[in-house]
Amino acid sequence: ERKFAHVLPGEHIYKGRLFFGYSPQEILDAVKNFNVREDDVFIVTYPKAGTTWLQEIVWLVVNEGNLQKATEMQVYFRSPFLEFKDLVLNEVGLDLAESMPSPRVIKTHLPLDLAPSGLFTSKCKKIVLFRNPKDQCVSYFHFYRSSSSFGNYQGDWPEFLEMFLDGHVDHGSWFDFTKGWWSKKDNPDVLILFYENMKKDLRSEIKKIAHFVGRSSVSDEIVDSIADHCSFESMRSNPMTNHHDVYSIDKEISPLLRKGIVGDWEDHFTTDQSERFDAEYAQKMAGTEIPFQYHI
Ligand code: A3P
Repeated sequence: ERKFAHVLPGEHIYKGRLFFGYSPQEILDAVKNFNVREDDVFIVTYPKAGTTWLQEIVWLVVNEGNLQKATEMQVYFRSPFLEFKDLVLNEVGLDLAESMPSPRVIKTHLPLDLAPSGLFTSKCKKIVLFRNPKDQCVSYFHFYRSSSSFGNYQGDWPEFLEMFLDGHVDHGSWFDFTKGWWSKKDNPDVLILFYENMKKDLRSEIKKIAHFVGRSSVSDEIVDSIADHCSFESMRSNPMTNHHDVYSIDKEISPLLRKGIVGDWEDHFTTDQSERFDAEYAQKMAGTEIPFQYHI
């Protein structure tokens, strides 16, 4: 008997994690052997950390602020989603990445042990973006509701919270993902970022990124123009970044760029739910001490 009523279209279990049909087994198998290049930049996130935001920023940094090209092509095509086979557009992230010239900016949501095996034998850059899990869970809930590829979730918030805590969501458990990647924090080719720090001071995070990917030469003017281009309002109204045309999101239910704030969890979690979350966190994340910020 199923514990949860919601069924993801094409859902399956791969090495202990739940995946939806857009990440089928053959793609997940193929990802392991993906040809990593030394000058690749990987954007590594659990869903709803602010992936799209970081993709746009990193792509612009790597391309020295080429706003012209950024307005000609969806970020979706400039920065492929590795383990994703778009069943509507018939686009495979892996193939898109294979055919791209370097330097590539590649997105993945995979937990550490499912990521390409070449990732740590190469000096390629891995940028891991974290977000406090309460806000991330809320964001995922609204995404589940709005996206037809996730089956337009009809359940309520309390049930979704249980699914999230249980890891019964696409790409599996947040706790599993976060513990795995956090263990790489001292690797010189890994940069850990936090959504909340990007909200607090985007310019300094952009400079940090530029330095990390070997583009310290990017001028203050370019940093400013990237920060302006990547503000919430600007990305939300930009058809190249708001995903209205590429993801199966019903923006009337909830757009991808929904609120873009820190602390929206307080409007969703009851006190009991928050305490329950904290208890699960303490148990599952014991010994990690990741400096998450729930308010800024
Ligand atoms: P909310 O649902 O809390 O608004 P992802 O790209 O990983 O799917 O993450 C989506 C989340 O990142 C959404 O969070 C979205 O609003 C937020 N986001 C995207 N672009 C942003 C920006 N420029 N500034 C702030 N938040 C942004």
